[in-house]
Amino acid sequence: MLPTDLLEQTKAVLEMNDRGNYTQPAHGLYPHQWLWDSCFIAIGLRHLDVERAKTELLSLLRGQWRNGMLPNIVFRDDPQYRTDRNIWRSWLSPFAPNDVMTTGITQPPVLAEAVVQVGKKLAWPERRQWYRMVYPALVSYHQWLYNERDPHGEGLVLLIHPWETGLDNTPPWMAEMHEHLLPLWIRLIEKTQLDRVINLFRRDARSVPLDQRFSTIESLALLDIQRRLRRKAYDINKILDHSLFAIEDLTFNSILIRANAHLREIAKSLREDLPDKLEASMAKTEKAFEDLWDPYSGQYYSRDFITHRLLKTPSIATLLPLYAGSITKERAGQLVRLLENDQAFGPAYPVPSVPLNSFWFQPKLYWQGPAWVNMNWLIIDGLKRYGFNDHAAALRETTLEMVAKSGCSEYFDPLTGEAAGAANFSWTAALALDLLKTAK
Ligand code: GLC
Repeated sequence: MLPTDLLEQTKAVLEMNDRGNYTQPAHGLYPHQWLWDSCFIAIGLRHLDVERAKTELLSLLRGQWRNGMLPNIVFRDDPQYRTDRNIWRSWLSPFAPNDVMTTGITQPPVLAEAVVQVGKKLAWPERRQWYRMVYPALVSYHQWLYNERDPHGEGLVLLIHPWETGLDNTPPWMAEMHEHLLPLWIRLIEKTQLDRVINLFRRDARSVPLDQRFSTIESLALLDIQRRLRRKAYDINKILDHSLFAIEDLTFNSILIRANAHLREIAKSLREDLPDKLEASMAKTEKAFEDLWDPYSGQYYSRDFITHRLLKTPSIATLLPLYAGSITKERAGQLVRLLENDQAFGPAYPVPSVPLNSFWFQPKLYWQGPAWVNMNWLIIDGLKRYGFNDHAAALRETTLEMVAKSGCSEYFDPLTGEAAGAANFSWTAALALDLLKTAK
């Protein structure tokens, strides 16, 4: 496919999924507005219509809670989605907005990145106006992250549900969940293989072959954790009092470090001082992040919040510290070697969401092997920051080649580049568009 055809195709996908003031990730499977999806989508949309890109982000803020939390989903207000809204019942929390229904958990903080990328398309006075418009929401989101998710003031934020990572069934989290969190009733279903019957009723099976999605056992466990959060009305103190499942996630904290840097930039250009307490927390993060380094394997890992044990199951998160931009050049080099290794993160169509030599690797299984364009975009950016320009250019090439070959799918088989997951996926289109439009 020629680049112009690819460009047209990405535009067509974004148009197809446009719902007026936001873009759904994909028709059928993902009908609502997702947090980090909309951020990636705005990064692409800014090349087509900067006002529309702003609207994408502003409509996310409709869902912001009074305590600053940005939920991972803002639900569509349509009778056919009552079940989705009822699973969450966001109205149980005194902090939830009154006029829109949302979930009670968040997703990686890519918002500051999206705000800055959209800002780049605006001349100074307009850029400042744009920053001014979103600054209070951004500050209160980052304050919430530290107030609620860094209860010991250590500098790293914790997550309480795998969905918050954005990499829903990523191995380090699934390993923990299988080990500590499967309630008896789910273990019984597993044992009696009742999950095969449940498979017949799964809604996602209408859009995607089930062997490319979560297992039913994992889905049930995720819903079970969600139900426990709901029972506590999403009150973090009550949740942490009773839960042993709190993880300082590597991807999330990598993105946070970068988001903090963007937030500082935004504040500076508005000549605003960030609140002292927030500044103090932000200042701790980069240093605390280094505690996630494991010298024996030469990589970073997520960490159990309570025991401080590193969760040494490799995944795509391993490469995200490149995007954080706060690690040393030497450690960045160590990570790049993993990207070069064709037994680890370097197959024909990188970057696999799990290294090939991992026991978890399956080429078409969601976050357990496939390549995802949003991860590639973040890694390309990180490679450039550390001066690995040839690696960045090569990854940009193969990413675009994969999309040109197989369409704007949700994810791709990293061995063959074949499409997997939902078709016509918005962030794949938006970020491929961005890669096409930005210099190598
Ligand atoms: C899946 C992905 C998540 C994404 C959502 C909507 O849950 O794992 O990252 O935000 O779909 O596309």
